[in-house]
Amino acid sequence: MPTAPEVLRRTGGQTIKSIVYDEAAIAAKVAELGSQITGAYPEGDLLVLGLLKGSFIFLGDLVRKIERPLQVDFLVASSYGSGMTTSGTVRLLYDPETRLEGKHIVLVEDIVDSGNTIRKLVGLLRERRPASLAVCALLDKVAMHEPMPEVRFVGFQAPTAFLVGYGLDHAENFRHLPFIADLT
Ligand code: IMP
Ligand code: MG
Repeated sequence: MPTAPEVLRRTGGQTIKSIVYDEAAIAAKVAELGSQITGAYPEGDLLVLGLLKGSFIFLGDLVRKIERPLQVDFLVASSYGSGMTTSGTVRLLYDPETRLEGKHIVLVEDIVDSGNTIRKLVGLLRERRPASLAVCALLDKVAMHEPMPEVRFVGFQAPTAFLVGYGLDHAENFRHLPFIADLT
């Protein structure tokens, strides 16, 4: 299908294969995740940790659908390499200022692919003795990794395509698209 002119205006002429999740589908899913998280933490301190940069839009929408007290902080992790595949190593470029000890932590990630990023971050965060630690991922490429019990809240089981938009980038572009598109 030809890429619509209103999409081309936002991408600067780059065509997309298809829109995989439109704004309405994303909004409905984010509301669902918010109520799941609200129900999962009846008490205790909740710290929602957004993994930058990919989670910035998702996190902003998600926390407004969580109807209980919480705090927000961020993590910046960087995997080496570029392009459409992810490499094996992860570095922490920004560490949350908030203490994690004794708090329920929900780590918010845009997309789980091989699972390497999440596995490494979960290992690192567990050392700080949170009361609990769970991952909320908007998208999960389930075909790309073994089952991951720490990924407790999942929006969509994503196809193994390269997706952009709603925070997801390709070489830092397309994060601002209000929908999620298949670029490949
Ligand atoms: P993993 O460590 O292999 O699970 O990769 C996770 C990270 O790779 C995500 O945080 C994204 O930044 C990036 N990534 C994986 N798949 C995609 C995709 O389809 N589009 C955009 N970024 C992706
Ligand atoms: Mg990325």
